Amino acid sequence: MENKIKCAVLGATGMVGQVFLSMLANHPWFELTRVIASDKRGGQNVAASTAWLLPQPMPTEVAALNFNKYAVDQLKESGVQIIFSALPADIAREAEAELRDAGFWVFSNAGAFRHEENVPILIPEVNPEALRLIETQGFPQRGFIVTNSNCTTAGLAVALAPLRQFSIQKLFVSTYQAISGAGYPGLSALDIMGNAIPFINGEEEKIIRECRKILGIEADIFPACVRIPVKFGHLESVWIEFEHDVSNEDILNAWAKFGNDQPPLPTAPQRPVLYQTEEKFPQPKQAFEGRPPGMQVFTGRLRKQHKLTGFFLLANNIVRGAAGGSIINAEVFIQNYQRQES
Ligand SMILES: NC(=O)c1ccc[n+]([C@@H]2O[C@H](COP(=O)([O-])OP(=O)(O)OC[C@H]3O[C@@H](n4cnc5c(N)ncnc54)[C@H](OP(=O)(O)O)[C@@H]3O)[C@@H](O)[C@H]2O)c1
Repeated sequence: MENKIKCAVLGATGMVGQVFLSMLANHPWFELTRVIASDKRGGQNVAASTAWLLPQPMPTEVAALNFNKYAVDQLKESGVQIIFSALPADIAREAEAELRDAGFWVFSNAGAFRHEENVPILIPEVNPEALRLIETQGFPQRGFIVTNSNCTTAGLAVALAPLRQFSIQKLFVSTYQAISGAGYPGLSALDIMGNAIPFINGEEEKIIRECRKILGIEADIFPACVRIPVKFGHLESVWIEFEHDVSNEDILNAWAKFGNDQPPLPTAPQRPVLYQTEEKFPQPKQAFEGRPPGMQVFTGRLRKQHKLTGFFLLANNIVRGAAGGSIINAEVFIQNYQRQES
């Protein structure tokens, strides 16, 4: 793209914010020009005041930036058009509405607006049609908010999308969720090390609501969410009852055929779901594997028992389940609404 679109990251020091910084550093369409966290960071250097937690180093061009204070008029004057939000939900409710009203295109990870009727929870490979909801928010005359799903739902929805054709009646999902899903600093080490916590506030309700909204299914959904002491990657055990008898071969074919159009968006994996035949996979240590790293959903251990089909999946909660999800949403928006005009 000749002229990159200027963007800002809100909540840039957090778990999701750091992935934004990492993925936007050399993005072919977007130029990261403003980096914002809480007001106390204003003016500080990003490298000096961020506890960097990702396995890959902080990009040098990001390290050189200073934090800006949150101010809508300054964002406007700076020429920023896209806002990537990794704010806590309570802060997001006010800030994202203000930014949308000021004309910005807001791509958010927060749950604040996910269930407003005219706000999409978008996963381009799963429900691309939901993007059109931005027109009911007043776009192109006004700004808009597009959200991505909760981190646990994201990988699940991608793996289930090509299986909708078999009519999902019941869905049982047990999760093994990484501590990075709770943000930074998140849980106390004393609470989680050598332990597993069988409760994540609001998570099971989010899976039910978001799966139904994104996948457009009415299935009965039975989630059970557990936090475990791994850093990155949510593992999920899934059992499905389909309306009719479905063979393992049908499932494998559906995943194999499921893909992104040519040419893919910069952050889109050509194969969103990769089935692994070795029985001991998928594992959270693969969270940053795949192409682009962290965007592919790994499945494995496909099996049948009575009327149920079971498998495991692994999704990177902070990439596919968060920042990468927002970036691919912004890309599909540009592809649909901006590129045809230029
Ligand atoms: N972690 C995940 O896997 C995941 C996945 C999907 C969605 N999400 C959602 O994404 C959002 C961010 O999650 P996270 O895990 O990155 O959280 P986090 O690690 O706790 O980071 C929160 C960020 O928000 C900033 N912040 C806090 N209070 C603020 C305020 N009053 N004004 C402005 N900025 C403020 C923090 O800045 P300071 O460092 O300066 O305080 C930090 O940059 C949340 O809404 C979360 O629910 C997270």
